[in-house]
Amino acid sequence: MAAITAKALVLGGKNGLLGQALVRVLEEKGWSVDTLSRTDVDYFSNNVYDSLSDELDRLEPTHVFNAVAYTNVEKAEEEPEQAIALNRRLPSTLGRLAASRSFSLVHFSTDFVFDGRKKTPYTTDDTPAPLSSYGRSKYEGEQALQDLSLNNCCIIRTAWLFGPGRDNFVRKIIGICQEKHKASVVFDQIGSPTYSMDLARHTLELVDIGAEGLFHIANSGQANWSELASEAVSCLQLECLINPILAQDFPSKAVRPAYSVLDCTSFTQITSTKPRAWPQALREYLMLEYPAGI
Ligand SMILES: NC(=O)c1ccc[n+]([C@@H]2O[C@H](COP(=O)([O-])OP(=O)(O)OC[C@H]3O[C@@H](n4cnc5c(N)ncnc54)[C@H](OP(=O)(O)O)[C@@H]3O)[C@@H](O)[C@H]2O)c1
Repeated sequence: MAAITAKALVLGGKNGLLGQALVRVLEEKGWSVDTLSRTDVDYFSNNVYDSLSDELDRLEPTHVFNAVAYTNVEKAEEEPEQAIALNRRLPSTLGRLAASRSFSLVHFSTDFVFDGRKKTPYTTDDTPAPLSSYGRSKYEGEQALQDLSLNNCCIIRTAWLFGPGRDNFVRKIIGICQEKHKASVVFDQIGSPTYSMDLARHTLELVDIGAEGLFHIANSGQANWSELASEAVSCLQLECLINPILAQDFPSKAVRPAYSVLDCTSFTQITSTKPRAWPQALREYLMLEYPAGI
């Protein structure tokens, strides 16, 4: 177990989907937690190294969790420089700071680093080949950190997040269903739906044992977007028709992998924990988000 004096700094902890989950779980476990957001640090500034250095001097964290990212996959096609600034330059800067200080760094990446040509779950040994500007910038962020050969750094790839505190796919679908009673949802992309709170808890398991290197963390099982939407609708007993459509019939600038299920074996081997199945995690999320039903 982590010492009670452990002090976390969560980038993206005020408003980010994962950042907020990390803050909740860290606080539950008795950590002292600080957060930084875009109002505290300008991540696009040329002075970002110095600004973060000042914050690290002030807050003196033992662990830094980077849950900031340019996550708008569509917009990243139009604003690749901004995606690179947040998804490559920021982790690279944090890595350089970690090299000269004593904090441990936990960084998050994505299943979208893969091209989706595999038919079996992607392991940490599989070679990324991103299809989108977002995926490329996230992969470059991973590589920038790996090039530093830090011995106090963990990179965690995750996928298809849902959870409290911020808009996400599940919440959007429920909103559409409430309003229109029907939703067209892509069925030919398959991935690993993941509950942000489970991801945060499993991240802490890695931190507690001082794990280093690259890991995949996602809830168990797989689904296409249409199945995820149908399961959410069915759990809430909503009257809504989910109409499965092909990805090519959904207007999109970014190319997404057709298959990006994550194999979490390396996480399970080191922690002896197997993440629970995504439908079970989804039910817990829906009970939290919609306690009175709909
Ligand atoms: N969401 C998913 O389905 C998913 C899937 C795979 C991997 N991941 C990875 O998981 C990690 C966490 O993702 P998330 O879903 O929690 O992301 P999120 O909810 O979109 O939060 C991203 C964080 O980055 C900040 N941010 C985004 N754009 C910014 C900008 N232009 N300027 C300044 N700050 C900006 C946000 O700040 P504000 O709150 O101020 O906007 C927020 O704190 C990321 O590394 C992501 O790549 C996510």
